[in-house]
Amino acid sequence: MGRALCFSHLTSQILFYTFAFLVLALSPVQSAGVTRHYKFNVRLENVTRLCKTRSIPTVNGKFPGPKIVAREGDRIVVHVINHLKHNVTFHWHGVRQLQSQWADGPVYVTQCPIQSGQSYVYNFTITGQRGTLWWHAHLSWLRVHLYGPLIILPKQGVGYPFPQPYKEVPIMFGEWFNSDPEAVIKQALRTGGGPNISDAYTINGLPGPLYNCSAKDTFKLNVKPSRTYLLRLINAALNTELFFSIANHSFTVVETDASYVKPISSNTLLISPGQTMNILLSTHQKTPNSSFLMAANPYTTSIGTFDNTTVAAILKYTAKILPVIKPTLPGFNDTATATKFNSKLRSLASRSYPARVPTKVDRHFFFTVGLGTSPCPKNATCQGPNGTKFAASINNVSYVAPSIALLQAHYYRLLKGVFTVDFPGAPLIPFNYTGTPPNNTFVSHGTKVIKLRFNTSVELVMQDTSIQGVESHPLHLHGYNFFVVGQGFGNYDPNKDRARFNLIDPNERNTVSVPSGGWVAIRFLADNPGVWLMHCHLDVHLSWGLSMAWVVEDGPLRNQKLRPPPLDLPKC
Ligand code: C2O
Repeated sequence: MGRALCFSHLTSQILFYTFAFLVLALSPVQSAGVTRHYKFNVRLENVTRLCKTRSIPTVNGKFPGPKIVAREGDRIVVHVINHLKHNVTFHWHGVRQLQSQWADGPVYVTQCPIQSGQSYVYNFTITGQRGTLWWHAHLSWLRVHLYGPLIILPKQGVGYPFPQPYKEVPIMFGEWFNSDPEAVIKQALRTGGGPNISDAYTINGLPGPLYNCSAKDTFKLNVKPSRTYLLRLINAALNTELFFSIANHSFTVVETDASYVKPISSNTLLISPGQTMNILLSTHQKTPNSSFLMAANPYTTSIGTFDNTTVAAILKYTAKILPVIKPTLPGFNDTATATKFNSKLRSLASRSYPARVPTKVDRHFFFTVGLGTSPCPKNATCQGPNGTKFAASINNVSYVAPSIALLQAHYYRLLKGVFTVDFPGAPLIPFNYTGTPPNNTFVSHGTKVIKLRFNTSVELVMQDTSIQGVESHPLHLHGYNFFVVGQGFGNYDPNKDRARFNLIDPNERNTVSVPSGGWVAIRFLADNPGVWLMHCHLDVHLSWGLSMAWVVEDGPLRNQKLRPPPLDLPKC
């Protein structure tokens, strides 16, 4: 009797939930979205890692910072109050900022800094995007501590184009310095040499068991057998691309930079600073009698020094940690594995999530990206190559930040003395980019932009150079996603390489690595008016000037025009 009752209760419950599910799934999703409010109190907090306690900038005392969660279509309002002595700004990495360009955040591009004691409200709506993104400070090297996940769930009633995971877990990679990173970059810019390297990498702020004095600072992921977990990976490291692997588990990549991809199953992945990646992890069917490391170590071909250590977290099926199994990670200079992984990525390109690749191109650009030098000031000694100072550039122009924001100058037509519209669309002096470098490696300095008419379809080829060594450069474009239509090694050859571009299902991203000693071709449609920064997401290269900006003019319609700035936009 009791059994029968129970059964019928269960049946009615199942019926109810099935019905509820159907109503949810079938109702037209036209919800306008809600507004989600967040408060960011930016203040110092003591944090101990590797037995060193440092007072670091945090949001609300948390390191890493708080998670922002919204649904596609929602408005996000972040009230920032700066209690630091230092200036700060925040960037919502990967958010397109349609109609909300003043909320993008890069310092002296879309705003002047939020000064000590001041506040600013970032107010933007998530339109046509869903997936894992992140937020970070966008001034000097402050993002080393000030970062967190920005997760956009699909609209209510819309599922993922892959099986619904049992649980979702952000996995953020970062870098930890035992000394103050602001002092590190300040000194490097003064001496002209390469900056000191970090002391550890971190996963969700924790270096893990492979470092001295760190075992207790390990991120642990408790899992159940026979379940699927969605790991939302974010590379927030300052200067390092990372290989990642989980011992005795393979995974499936389903999304990159908040764009769905055709599922790829793999044991190892590569993630560059600025990039995000969603992977599905299926756990073993039976509880194993070991625990497993999830580990990451660098990928670099740099000739400079780098932090060659391994960060690890523990994946465990039982309350106690059992003997841990380590994964095999590729070597730090394993370009073959890096290339193999990147070249497998394809847009999902389904009917619901089409790949809108521009097929006709209005304007072609060719940018060299890489390192260079600047002369040492008179009567000084410099620690860069041959007594010079390190620099970095795009088409040999090393970016100089102006003293008011580019967007303000553009909006109020105050260009004079702020920027010029003569950024070269191709190198002024062509050379053998990946061959023997030229004798003169001095860069020029300037604040130059390229102006694009609204709805211009752009093809941009970015070419690494061998000046001061070939290196992979993760280039990030603000305000847009782009399609990675081609990539290769050596010098780009339009006659032979263009014919092989993928215009059907290329990977859609906001950050792509220019291969070490190679090139990458991207396409995007300039349908978002404003001033948009494009830069290397290795902060050392950004500090050296590997950056430029696009000015996209207004379109004819009302919603295609730059809005006036918010009243609380920080004063310059
Ligand atoms: Cu994630 Cu301009 O940065």
